[in-house]
Amino acid sequence: MSTLGSVVSAGFDVERLREDFPVLKQQIHGKPLVYLDNAATAQKPLPVLEAIRRFYEVECANIHRGVHELSQRSTAAYEETRAAARRFLNARSKNELIFVRGTTEGINLVASTWGRKNIKAGDEIIISALEHHSNIVPWQMLVEEKEARLRVIPMNDRGELLLEEYEKSLNPRTRLVAFAHVSNALGTINPARQMIEMAHRAGALTLIDGAQAAPHMPIDVQALDADFYTFSGHKVFGPTGVGILYGKAKLLEAMPPYQGGGDMIRTVSFEKTTYNDVPYKFEAGTPNISSGIGLGAALDYVTHIGLDKIAAYEHELLSYATETLTEIPGLRLIGTAREKASVLSFVMEGIHPHDIGTVLDRQGIAVRTGHHCAQPIMDWFHIPATTRASLAFYNTAGEIDALVAGLYKVKEVFGE
Ligand code: ALA
Repeated sequence: MSTLGSVVSAGFDVERLREDFPVLKQQIHGKPLVYLDNAATAQKPLPVLEAIRRFYEVECANIHRGVHELSQRSTAAYEETRAAARRFLNARSKNELIFVRGTTEGINLVASTWGRKNIKAGDEIIISALEHHSNIVPWQMLVEEKEARLRVIPMNDRGELLLEEYEKSLNPRTRLVAFAHVSNALGTINPARQMIEMAHRAGALTLIDGAQAAPHMPIDVQALDADFYTFSGHKVFGPTGVGILYGKAKLLEAMPPYQGGGDMIRTVSFEKTTYNDVPYKFEAGTPNISSGIGLGAALDYVTHIGLDKIAAYEHELLSYATETLTEIPGLRLIGTAREKASVLSFVMEGIHPHDIGTVLDRQGIAVRTGHHCAQPIMDWFHIPATTRASLAFYNTAGEIDALVAGLYKVKEVFGE
């Protein structure tokens, strides 16, 4: 029995919060579910499920298109999420928030609109060694098309970026620096404020992939001075298929549209089309309305708990998990940055990660195994894959103990 529960429970009633997540109450293979795959997707609390149900029960209509009552209601509910996202990110205006399908689309939108317009032959874009494929491939496609150059900030063997190398790579040709706020594969928290300031000093813009930061810490795009910041709804306890891209108003106004279609236009004739104002200019077609409304409920839910409280609780849980996991003989953590959030990636001597994941699953424990859409990170550590346990605020010290017991079972099964 760990002592962590009593240490943190004074300020954070995790058992009470777990009541909001029906999915957590089930048994898997006859064992209580221990859900530790939150970096892949997080579970959804009752207010999110209720918001989606309410939409289909009493609000269901298309948005921005009708004078009738249901269309007014659904439009108001959807636009309320934009307002919730403004509060969540502390943006200046709700017009700086664009609905996208998720972080991947947020990055692709910037690459194909701002990028296509502004990147020229010989220009440079900097990313980091810690990126998810979604913050590598769109930039590779862009630099290939434009005959520009992609540079990569290297990292050390803890999984921390080498800022002195970053400084050296910045130069008058640098147009954009795109990096993850938190690494999905290793959990490293990058010094975003400092990295943005360095980019700005060199005259470059910045795009921050906030997919793994948004569920774990307060985000303030004004304090960060981020030019673009994007995150996914489903990782922040909202539905799949919706996310948010923040962009500074001036940048968004100067960017060409993303996709063409309904809602993104002001007037259309066969001779000429004029475009809607931001943010609608970037939102062609009927969006994922129910998920958008669910996302608003999710943002309000975590804001109500308090992202600072979530961060403090998870920090203690991560320290406890790091301490107990590293005591397991033959287990090596991959990613030991001094600043980390809620991810424990590891390998075990002589046991393939997929085998670890399979044995853990039989004990009701869900983790992710594989390269985590971050193959260059695996290559850097000379490993094909890791097992990754990723935490959310509803995880408990008891679940960490279950993971540790599960890993001893793995060793037993594989004769160690
Ligand atoms: N990007 C998600 C993960 O890290 C899917 O698992």
